[in-house]
Amino acid sequence: MPSQNPYQALLSISEQINAVHDTSTLFDRIMDIAMEALKAERGFILLKSPGGQAEFEAVTARNISKETISSIRELSSSVVNQVLEKEEPVLTMDAQADQRFSGAESVLLQNIRSVVCTPLLRQNKLIGAIYMDNRAGAGHFDEESLRFLQAFAGQAAIAIENARLFEKLQSENQRLKQQISLSSIFPEIIGKSAPIVHILEMVRDVAGSTATVLIEGESGTGKELVARALHYHSPRKENLFIPIFCGSLSENLLESELFGHKKGAFTGAIENKAGLFEQAHQGTLFLDEIADINKNTQTKLLRVLQEGEIKRVGETAIRKVDVRIISATNKDLWQEVQAGNFREDLYYRLNVINIKMPPLRERKDDIPLLAEHFLQKFAVQNKKKISGFTAEALELLKSYHWPGNIRELENSIERAVILAREPIPDKLGGIRQIPAGLFNLHRPRPEADLAGKPLHEIEKYAILKTLELTGNNRTKTAQILDVSRRWLQYRLKEWGIGEEQ
Ligand SMILES: Nc1ncnc2c1ncn2[C@@H]1O[C@H](COP(=O)(O)OP(=O)(O)OP(=O)(O)O)[C@@H](O)[C@H]1O
Ligand SMILES: [Mg+2]
Repeated sequence: MPSQNPYQALLSISEQINAVHDTSTLFDRIMDIAMEALKAERGFILLKSPGGQAEFEAVTARNISKETISSIRELSSSVVNQVLEKEEPVLTMDAQADQRFSGAESVLLQNIRSVVCTPLLRQNKLIGAIYMDNRAGAGHFDEESLRFLQAFAGQAAIAIENARLFEKLQSENQRLKQQISLSSIFPEIIGKSAPIVHILEMVRDVAGSTATVLIEGESGTGKELVARALHYHSPRKENLFIPIFCGSLSENLLESELFGHKKGAFTGAIENKAGLFEQAHQGTLFLDEIADINKNTQTKLLRVLQEGEIKRVGETAIRKVDVRIISATNKDLWQEVQAGNFREDLYYRLNVINIKMPPLRERKDDIPLLAEHFLQKFAVQNKKKISGFTAEALELLKSYHWPGNIRELENSIERAVILAREPIPDKLGGIRQIPAGLFNLHRPRPEADLAGKPLHEIEKYAILKTLELTGNNRTKTAQILDVSRRWLQYRLKEWGIGEEQ
């Protein structure tokens, strides 16, 4: 029987606990109030995890001096289990003598005498239990203690639910705020989907360091865009960002581009030339298509990364360079290491930070946003007044699988904007919204006949087939495949297919 007015406690509870929004403080407060009102020696609250899984866990366990008890095994689990199972309260005036718990280990071990325990119910659903006990003597709690605890548990359950809801909203709010601030930091990178937000957070966090970054992802996913963002949000932004497309250059040319050369070092070296490493001093060098550089150049690159020094081709003098390296590839570089095509030690040097660009089909939520962004851009460029897309067009854009990713989306929208007729002044029926018919998205899905084949085979098939369709026109083929002509030339050369006739 509570010695002080328990209803006073009930009143103070609603005042006190409704003001607490942080769940862990709330749990302790609930426990302390209840224990004080019932003069209990120890107590704990058990709750289902917020996700609603079947598991119950102790969220707080306190003793009379308001200290946290480390192990709830000291308390009577047999009583609690019964309460959770039957969803009914239990009161035992003398647990040692109570038939229901005779033999229960904790009751015996801990000399537990009086126990009162009640389920926490919210709209008739079990969310947990409050337990209190006393070892001092039998008959410490009575029916009134139980009635009080039940009334109290009703209040506590509401407060707990509110606090949990509050915490959920708070974290949601924080996520949204962060998203807004991320999109104001990187206005050029459009996207709200979880994968792109994750990438923007990484860019924000690593831009300031000098760590090397390897950006992997399919063609057109925004690798270069991210590389530029890394540079322009770093302390190096006043210095140069120099991209170099490693794939299309021969070994000699690439080395002379990267490291520079001495006059007369090879035929054509008519004067001394500083390489890109020197030009990018205190800036950033973006090594695009890094997987395609040959083993010799890989070795030289490794040395630069290890020593921070370069030697111009044909020179012995050593020059110190301070360059941040960002590299990109649309291959799986680790697989290239495994296949023996790429040095493992260089891989680790380049891959201190790894960013994987998701293909557009894995973040379809971003399609309307990106489509709108490109529409605005090309409408302004082409001086056309277009307000948006028809519902059907948007549906088409969302359902397409975008093998060329964002670049393909960008190009498709540019084409559609150019093809869109101007609204005719004073007449109805002019185009203000882009209709689905202006998109030319019926390229066969490669999975139709190529599923289960290695990617490089699919790539080769697509390239050769498109060349066939365009009557061997490489510029057109590159356009249709949404790749650069340079990239296409490189691929063809790799397969021994010579220059265009
Ligand atoms: N999140 C984005 N928001 C706005 N534009 C984007 C986004 N991602 C990519 N783009 C645009 O899409 C085009 C392709 O991007 P980018 O050149 O960075 O791709 P990439 O991964 O380097 O492609 P590739 O492997 O073919 O070189 C660019 O015009 C870029 O501005
Ligand atoms: Mg690129």
